[in-house]
Amino acid sequence: MSVKMTSSNISFPREWERINPESLEGTIMVIGESDSGKTTFARYLFLQLCRCHNSVAFLDCDVGQSTLGLPTTMNLALSSGERSVFPPKGETLSYFVGSTSPRGHMLPTVIGAHKLQKKAQELGAEAIVVDTTGLVSRAAGGGALKQWKIELLKPSVLVGLERGAELEHILWPWRWDKRVRVYDLPVSEHVIEKTRTERITHREKRFLSYFQKAHALRVAFREVVVFGIEMMAGGRLLAFQDDQGFAMALGVARAYDRNGQELAVSTPLPSPEGVSSIRFGSLKLDPATGQELGK
Ligand SMILES: Nc1ncnc2c1ncn2[C@@H]1O[C@H](COP(=O)(O)OP(=O)(O)O)[C@@H](O)[C@H]1O
Ligand SMILES: [Mg+2]
Repeated sequence: MSVKMTSSNISFPREWERINPESLEGTIMVIGESDSGKTTFARYLFLQLCRCHNSVAFLDCDVGQSTLGLPTTMNLALSSGERSVFPPKGETLSYFVGSTSPRGHMLPTVIGAHKLQKKAQELGAEAIVVDTTGLVSRAAGGGALKQWKIELLKPSVLVGLERGAELEHILWPWRWDKRVRVYDLPVSEHVIEKTRTERITHREKRFLSYFQKAHALRVAFREVVVFGIEMMAGGRLLAFQDDQGFAMALGVARAYDRNGQELAVSTPLPSPEGVSSIRFGSLKLDPATGQELGK
């Protein structure tokens, strides 16, 4: 196998090789439960596609166990001249969902993915690999989420990493729909499952390292558009957004000065220059520890 993965010990099941990267273009969406090997396979596929296309995008839609950006955001990265590297070194864009799960945030999850996909297409990506969250349970709304996301993103290929039949309620109709090709892959026996605590710790570390460079930035409400003002409270995570609604940086709300209509925010963003709007999420966070304080 000539594909280089930065992490060692990845086994390349034979079934992966059935998927010929030369035959793939457009959007390729990878779905499966948590710890089914989605990200591992998506990275592999991205590197394979880089060998056949000039421009390939990786769209990380996992707001919980993010690969490219911070938890609560979805992130796009394009390959650059130095193509076979992961994470990709080209253009990046981020969209703020505001929660570490799509549950209760289905609309921003689907709409953000579409905005990032459109951007990737505008930037010339010939193939876009979409990595997703493990929310596939019908009872938890994962079925509806994935169905509508497929309808909107119009992937040419759907890759399902399945242990049993847990994806059938999502995949079954698409097996008959000429708009997509469905590939079934078994879950690798080498998959290492993460506990809930490990997932939380992983997010904490990401947030802690991000907010280590934070300072207090004062934001005048007269000068920016504010989305989700009803969520404004001390400790609330928010995003600084550009004029297209993409996230430039995250911050944590500290204190609001009613008279001056100014909000103090802990953020690594150096200045409010270029910020068109702020959007409050639902997560509360302690920037000093990275700890999640609830929703
Ligand atoms: N084919 C594989 N070979 C070796 N390790 C794997 C393989 N697939 C997944 N893993 C390991 O299992 C864990 C979970 O895989 P991951 O791709 O992150 O799953 P998901 O994105 O579905 O949650 C990771 O530690 C990953 O390195
Ligand atoms: Mg993953």
